[in-house]
Order: sequence, then C-alpha cells, then structure tokens
Amino acid sequence: MSDAHPMWLRPGPIPGLAGGAVLITGDDPLLDTVRAEARAAGMHLVGPDQPAALVRISIDRASGGAPGTETGFVLTGDGERTVVVAGGASGALCGWFEIVRRAATGRLHEPGTTRHEPAQAVRILDHWDNIDVHPVMGQVERGYAGGSIFFDAGRVRDDLSRVAAYARLLASIGIDRVAINNVNVHAREARLLTDDLADVARIAAEFRPWGIRLHLSVSFASPIVLGGLETSDPLEPAVRAWWREAADRVWAAIPDFGGFVVKADSEGQPGPFADGRDHADGANLLAEAVAPHGGLVHWRAFVYNHTQDWRDRTTDRARAAFDHFTPLDGRFADNVIVQVKHGPMDFQVREPVSPVLAAMPHTRVALELQVTQEYTGQQRHAVYLAPMWREVLDFAPFGAAGPTIADLAAAGGGIAAVSNVGDDGFWTGHPLAQANLYAFGRLAWDATLDPAAILDEWIALTFGSGASGSDGEIAAVVHELLDDSWSTYESYTAPLGVGFMVTPGTHYGPSVDGYEYSPWGTYHFADRDGIGVDRTVATGTGYAGQYPEPWASTYESLDTVPDELLLFFHHVPYSHRLHSGSTVIQHIYDTRFAGVERVDAMVDMWQRLDGRIDGDLFARVRDRLTEQQRSAREWRDHVNTYFLRKSGIADERGRAIHP
Ligand code: GCU
Repeated sequence: MSDAHPMWLRPGPIPGLAGGAVLITGDDPLLDTVRAEARAAGMHLVGPDQPAALVRISIDRASGGAPGTETGFVLTGDGERTVVVAGGASGALCGWFEIVRRAATGRLHEPGTTRHEPAQAVRILDHWDNIDVHPVMGQVERGYAGGSIFFDAGRVRDDLSRVAAYARLLASIGIDRVAINNVNVHAREARLLTDDLADVARIAAEFRPWGIRLHLSVSFASPIVLGGLETSDPLEPAVRAWWREAADRVWAAIPDFGGFVVKADSEGQPGPFADGRDHADGANLLAEAVAPHGGLVHWRAFVYNHTQDWRDRTTDRARAAFDHFTPLDGRFADNVIVQVKHGPMDFQVREPVSPVLAAMPHTRVALELQVTQEYTGQQRHAVYLAPMWREVLDFAPFGAAGPTIADLAAAGGGIAAVSNVGDDGFWTGHPLAQANLYAFGRLAWDATLDPAAILDEWIALTFGSGASGSDGEIAAVVHELLDDSWSTYESYTAPLGVGFMVTPGTHYGPSVDGYEYSPWGTYHFADRDGIGVDRTVATGTGYAGQYPEPWASTYESLDTVPDELLLFFHHVPYSHRLHSGSTVIQHIYDTRFAGVERVDAMVDMWQRLDGRIDGDLFARVRDRLTEQQRSAREWRDHVNTYFLRKSGIADERGRAIHP
C-alpha cells in the first residue's frame, strides 16, 4: 500500500465494528472486496449459521426490497445490528461504505429502514493527466497536487499502489467510472488507445475490484495520427472501420472498459468540422464503434471560438455551446452523452447554470463540474465547493414546478467532474481540498444531501468522530473554516458574476484586464462609467434568451436579475443600486475588504489547532492559508484600485485603496 495520507478512510479497526461478526452472503469478486474491507475494519467473517452477526450483507436481485438496480441497497438497523440487502454486488460494496460512514458519525445500527440508490446512473471522474510533462501545463493540466498517479517517466507507472488506494477511496463515495487522461490529447497520449493498451489494462485491473470502469480520452484525429489514414471524416467508411477495430482491440484487452471521452473542435483539438461534418456526425461515429461492447461516448459541449476579435461585441462565448449543440438535439445515438460544463463560460466562481442542460430533451446530457480548483484558488486557497454544486443541482430551469438540473442529469447522462488529485502525499495539495472530492461523490449519489452535513461527515471520517473533547474542537474549526469558504473566495475575486480577471495562462491571482484585449471571449467591459456584459435580448448578445421562462425574463430585467449575476447579464453604471441596497462600486469595495477579513479569521482559526493535529498536515494547511491571505490581499487591492481609478468614486468608508 502507499504511504500517502489515507484521506477519509482512516486505517485500522473501526470503532463499533471491530471485534464484531459479519455475515456476507454470495459469490462475486466485489463481495470479496467487501469481505477484505470488513476484515481490515477488525470484523470476523462468519457463516449463515450465525444469524446474530453484527452486520449482514446479502444480494437479492429479485425482491430484496432493493430498488432493483445493481448499485441500490436497503439498509435496516435495529439499534444493535445492521442488515444490508443489495440489488447487486456493487450495491453490497456501497452498502458497506454506508455502514462505515454511519460508524464514523455515531449512527451505527440506527433504527429504521432506508433505501439507497445513486441519483446519477453515471458518476465519472475525469483526469486531465498527461503522460509526458507538458511544457506549459505540466503533467496534470490544471492539476495542483503534483504529478499523475497513473503515469511517470513517459509511461504507465510500474507501481500502481496509489491507483489502488484511489480506487478504494472513490468506491467509498460511489464513483463508478474514471477517465485517466487529459481531454487535450497530445501525440504521446493518443497512443494510449493502441500501443499502451496492455498498460492501460493494468490500470483497469486496479479499479476493477472496486466496481469502477476505466475510460480514455481519445483524439478525434486518431485515424490519421495512429492509423495513417488521410482523413478522420466521420462519414468515411475507412474511418468507421478504423474506429470499430480500435474499439474491438480495447475491449479485447479490457472487457469492462467504459468508453471514450472526446473534446472535439474545441480550443484547437481536432474534430468533425475539418470535414464539414457536425458534432452529431462525430459523436455517432464513435458511438457506433463502442456500441457492440456496451460502451459510452462522452462528447464535450465545451465548444466556442477561442480566436475571437475582442473588438467584436456581437460574438458572445456564453452563447456558443447552445448555438452549436441544441440544433443537433435528437440526432445523437443512445450511447452518446453530451457533457456540459455547469456554466456557459468556464468553471468560474459564479456563473449562471448553462442553458444547454435544459435545451436538449432528446439527448443524454451530463453535467460537468470541476473539482480541481482551476478558477477557485488552485488548492492554495481553501474553498469548499459543495455549496456551489448544490446550487447548480437545485436549479430548476423551467421554474420551481419543473425538473432540477439534478433531475435532468439523472434522466440523461449523469454527472462528471474533473478530479483534483495527484501524486502529492495529501493527494490534493491542500489537505482541505480532499473535502471537495468527497463531496462530489456524495452529491453525485444524492443531490439532496446538505453540503454542511457532507462536510461534517467528511470531517468525522477524516479527523475522527469525537463530538466532544479535543476532536470536537478540530471538527468545529474545520467546519467553520470551510463552510462558507466559497462565498469568501467569491467576495475577494471577480465581482458580481463578471468572471475571470485572472492572470492569463496560469489563471491564478488577479489581473483585472488580463483577458480584456485577448481572443478568448472573456471580457468585463469596464470603462469610466460602468462595467458588465450586456447579454440581454433587448440590447445585448441575446444570451438571456437561451433560457426558458421564468429565467429568460428574470435575467433580462434589472429589476429581477439576482445581484450575484448582475454583471454577467448587464452592463451598468457604477452607481447602479443592487437589490441589497448598495451601489455596484460600494459593493465591490465592501466585499473585497470583508473577504480579506474573513481570510484573516481563517488563518487565526487554524492556528487554534496547533499541536492538536498531525504536524505535517497542520503545517501544510497553515502554509496554504498564509498564501491565501497574501493572495486575497492582492486581489482586494488590485480590484479596488482598478475600480477607484476607472470610476473616480471614493469608498464611502474612506478605507485605504491605492489610486
Ligand atoms: C479550461 C482549461 C483548459 C481545459 C479546458 C477544457 O479552459 O483552462 O485547461 O483544457 O477548460 O475544459 O477543455
């Protein structure tokens, strides 16, 4: 096993379970995994002649009271014992980890019967890992936790013990699929599909005991770059034959392989446009190849013009995915999942929910989140993202009586997220960023879970339960530090939904005009009078009209647009008054100052744990908080100074800004 931090699965006997008997009935490799877990928790396995076992786990596909899916289970506690009846072996594994959670949170054997079933049938984590170290992006694109756990020295690692530990952690939160390589598929990584299959199969073998299937990101130009064909035209018979053979080879090597992830005609990646075809043609080409094997194609909707002219106010990047994809609704094969980022731009700290998620009723659409903190502090800032994700999942695009985003994803392609782990000893660089990975899995399983409750669960598992004594202090500090940290981050970075203002390229730290005169389509349009992007139908780009009612009208009007999204939808004078009562300029000043004060408080809070927590972990978090404090001040001063200079409007409270 690896000597990395155990994250939320603390090693050794589990209090309340250790010493007890467990009866696990059935024959399946995943049940062997459950047996090994129970043993590691200190339980002893018994046979069916011992009905008094503390924990009993069995599979009943037919009745069982289980929800009828492989992964579902029914859990019954009577105060002294727990019984899990699962719909399949994966349900038994998930049921076991539910017992572990209950043990950690003081709910072991809690009386009553509860049914458990993943809300999202597909729960995939995407890794943006390269084999080679990319000159600009490093090995893990947008990775903030060291190198890849899969690849090293130009190939798949010999020692995959970190992968085994990772698979176990993911299984414990219900993740069922992992894509191991970057969506930007460079030349070396393209060959994973062919030359490296034996090594990819080794990785798949590490995930298999945990019920997790492996996916690969592939290049749409593979028939050219790997197959030596002259074209990758999706309608060309030779191209179709190439993909079918490629898929056959993959499944011959990895019988439970999951499918392909594709970024096509996006930020320079090859795609069907080269041959005058569209995204449905492209996706269906791959779908046809993987269909005989029960495979999936995750086709990403992150398609926009990244070479636009900043002078051109009519082109709006926010519109692009909707404009490209919604006309294709109904043309995608059944095993194609169109994977849509949660917002129309790019994983900003605040964006409206992408209207594409609600606009393709005849397509399997998946929601894509970013656990890796590209635009949310890069795992140097403590930012607990579950509250943001919960807002996205709860959004009801057709109004309160209609389905939520969680419902739409559940009915379609499920949920995906970009992972935040690397070969760092704490997995995630910032130890507290482990909470985000944990929360993603839990929300993918059940979108109605309360982010604060997930946080407490993660804290109990990670730091030990103890509701009282010194453990209680740890839990209180970590909770307080993280609970509101998303809104803290928002309050010192780009204001009111306008987005970006980050250093170009790295995307870390403030640069208010960094992208203003760039081709990337990410502008704030601040001048001496006002700021924001007019995306209204009446006078702007028309993006607001991509929403169904009631949202199209809500966003269109200054009277109803939520404050936090004001500048995403409207260009307003600095003197514009928010619903909160503050003017835009005063809001900018006030929240930047308040944000830094909250970070100062976070630094002090953590200090209270000095000597009460593992020294390395304490020091790592302390150092990151120090950097967050420095960076938050930098953000405050850049943003405030910039807007004071632009607007000439002084802070009502006369605080130190630097004109
Ligand atoms: C962002 C990110 C890129 C990534 C892209 C994507 O733009 O900065 O590194 O490749 O998203 O999602 O494909």
